[in-house]
Amino acid sequence: MRKNLSNRLPGKLIIRPYRPEDEAQVLNLVRELESELAEKFPQVKIESGVETYRTRYLKKGNKYVMYVAEVNKKIVGFLLGYPSLGIPEVDSLYDVLPLNGEKATDEFYLQMTFVSRAYRNRGISKALHRAVIKYALEHGYREVYACIAKWNIPELKVIRSLKFESQDLGTRYRLSLKFDEQSSSPRKRGGGG
Ligand SMILES: CC(C)(COP(=O)(O)OP(=O)(O)OC[C@H]1O[C@@H](n2cnc3c(N)ncnc32)[C@H](O)[C@@H]1OP(=O)(O)O)[C@@H](O)C(=O)NCCC(=O)NCCS
Repeated sequence: MRKNLSNRLPGKLIIRPYRPEDEAQVLNLVRELESELAEKFPQVKIESGVETYRTRYLKKGNKYVMYVAEVNKKIVGFLLGYPSLGIPEVDSLYDVLPLNGEKATDEFYLQMTFVSRAYRNRGISKALHRAVIKYALEHGYREVYACIAKWNIPELKVIRSLKFESQDLGTRYRLSLKFDEQSSSPRKRGGGG
């Protein structure tokens, strides 16, 4: 998809960690995400996650990490991730990792990225991913990974442009970016993502 001048953002893009005062705007984006999903999958009953975001993902002291995209003081996108033990059933049991801000696991999981429709295809998701990858690198994680449905071409494009390695899991891909043990950069690999 080609970018053109009408794709320009109406203001400067700021990518930064979530702050408590962003809560209402982020919850509105979650509502927007849910109505988009309901539109896309009319046969599926979408259970709202708004309360889970409010009481769990956005709750201070829990393991979740969120970066937001801000344009003209408006939050237009977010990326939510967390330190992962690599087993979703176990991950969902523990909310308070890492303790004392230390790294608790080797893997950092990218759970959800959302960019408001009117702001898409301007590189915002890519910028959010870059910020979270930097965060993971600086906090000593060895791997950042995501699981993306095969129908989600835009998100697959974003992740692959950042040179994640792809593993085919049938209806979705596990996409992984591993960091060198000693270095402060993603591991160099041959070929694209
Ligand atoms: C996926 C999502 C986060 C991408 O956000 P975004 O800010 O538009 O992403 P970017 O602008 O960084 O990159 C999108 C890329 O997909 C491309 N793209 C968008 N729609 C496309 C389509 N229908 N077919 C092919 N490519 C497409 C864009 O051109 C761009 O690629 P480019 O940089 O090579 O031009 C956004 O579409 C979204 O919120 N979707 C709904 C929620 C979701 O699916 N989240 C991901 C699962 S966790």
